[in-house]
Amino acid sequence: MAGNFKVCVVGGAGGIGQPLSMLMAMDPNVSELCVYDLTLAMVPAAGVAADLSHLNKKCKVTGYAFDKDDKAIDKAGECLKGCNLVLVPAGVPRKPGQDRKDLLNINAGIAKNIVEACAKHCPEAVVGLIVNPVNSVVPAMCELWKKKGLNPAKIVGVTTLDVVRADKFVHEMTGLPMDDIGVPVIGGHAGTTILPLFSQCQVGKTIPADKIPDLDKKVQDAGTVVVAAKNGKGSATLSMAYAGARLGKAVLAGLNGEVSTECAYVESKVTELPYFASKVTFGKQGVETVHPLGELNEYEQGRLDALMPILKEEIEAGLEYAKENE
Ligand code: NAI
Repeated sequence: MAGNFKVCVVGGAGGIGQPLSMLMAMDPNVSELCVYDLTLAMVPAAGVAADLSHLNKKCKVTGYAFDKDDKAIDKAGECLKGCNLVLVPAGVPRKPGQDRKDLLNINAGIAKNIVEACAKHCPEAVVGLIVNPVNSVVPAMCELWKKKGLNPAKIVGVTTLDVVRADKFVHEMTGLPMDDIGVPVIGGHAGTTILPLFSQCQVGKTIPADKIPDLDKKVQDAGTVVVAAKNGKGSATLSMAYAGARLGKAVLAGLNGEVSTECAYVESKVTELPYFASKVTFGKQGVETVHPLGELNEYEQGRLDALMPILKEEIEAGLEYAKENE
């Protein structure tokens, strides 16, 4: 039996937000979708909602626009109340030459506004943070969430695009069926902190060892390739929406009692770092199990050792933000 869940896409009129809203409106588990954006968004949220409301799906779609001020936290109750899942592709996308660190202050401020609104109006919802830099924004938001006495396991950093890219590149290299390919991608969601475990994929492990470093780098650099190709006019939006919807659907399937597993960046005890991306099983309460990393080959172990201090620094930047912006 399909579920009847309420989903909100915050930043739903943006580059990622529009196709993500469409894909979520098509999920049979979604009965209500809210498209939430700012009043100054390029396209009015109400327009995106009107457009999507004509899909012949059971989902009712409503648009909400709020001003960019603290009062939005109070007003957002209209759309956030009763939400089971809030997906957040709100924020400023990366520009050429800009790394994810440059984005932290701007985007963490946006995320804080939204996460505080969720804490107030839908504290039981799973909140999927797409807004970059995920490595720092997720720890910052989990800290704020915890200070309110809420369960940090509800906050999920969306790293699914790394998995989607790793799978696609393995398929292109081997020509083997996509259905047999599933590369876990662990660590974080920026540069070298992205660690695809090709050895844990039945197809990936057939790739000769000398080809792995370039393939690994291709996954890490894929976001930058899109930023450059769009020439200052945005970052990955369509593939991100596809990946975000895959994660969103997995969360909803879990809430509906069909356990499902995806990689995600969450509060974690599987390594010495307090936040880490690994396989996560979603169930009726949201995050149910954060899985250990499994066996790594020598190359992957070396990469893991090298990424830990970098990810640690990015987590600390997020924790610092939370401390300075209580
Ligand atoms: P965009 O600029 O096209 O859309 C962002 C939307 O968020 C806009 O419509 C804007 O009005 C809205 N917004 C901004 N502040 C808001 C607030 N306080 N409340 C509600 N809505 C607000 O940007 P795009 O390309 O859709 O990217 C969005 C975010 O996703 C960026 O932070 C980007 O870095 C990130 N991203 C994450 C990826 C991932 O793999 N996790 C991949 C690609 C992008």
